[in-house]
Amino acid sequence: MQKDKAFETVKQQLTTKRYEHTVRVTETAVQLARHYRLDVTKVELAAILHDYAKYRDPEEMKRWIIMEKLPHDLLEYNEELWHGPVGSKMIERELGVDDPEIQSAIYWHTTGKRHMNLMDKVIYIADYIEPGRSFPGVEEVRQVVYEDIDKACWMAARNTIRFLMSKNQPVYPDTFQLYNEKLGRNMNA
Ligand SMILES: [Fe+2]
Ligand SMILES: [Fe+2]
Repeated sequence: MQKDKAFETVKQQLTTKRYEHTVRVTETAVQLARHYRLDVTKVELAAILHDYAKYRDPEEMKRWIIMEKLPHDLLEYNEELWHGPVGSKMIERELGVDDPEIQSAIYWHTTGKRHMNLMDKVIYIADYIEPGRSFPGVEEVRQVVYEDIDKACWMAARNTIRFLMSKNQPVYPDTFQLYNEKLGRNMNA
């Protein structure tokens, strides 16, 4: 799928605000892809499509989780977490995008996980640091991302866990695993 067609497609699926977020995530992801010598076209398409499922009806997403045999424990967590895994399947079935790397990056963009590949990391962190974000601690993450993307992902997971815990919200286990995976060398960060 070409870039222009992809933008056009997601524009119809998203609110104006979320579409603008998508444009910024794409710009950020492309810069990171160039820096880390990834396939820019592929990363760009993953970024454009990353929130494709964001505004689908939760009941519809629930059906996809069951139908596509996605982990059923997702249903015990906030609906916010569903659009990544569901989106990774929807882009294949509805748009014919069946690239496993693109699908993996979209699948994990909200929770992160341990053993992410470089493209997973780029989409995860681009979504977290795009210029419209103002989470506490995001500036620190922006400062390290071009030197150490693993540290940036770890910091993003740590900040997300802190935020969710401060609100007494559940944390998806894969986010904890991302945090734990890199804890050893970031103990003093
Ligand atoms: Fe998202
Ligand atoms: Fe997003």
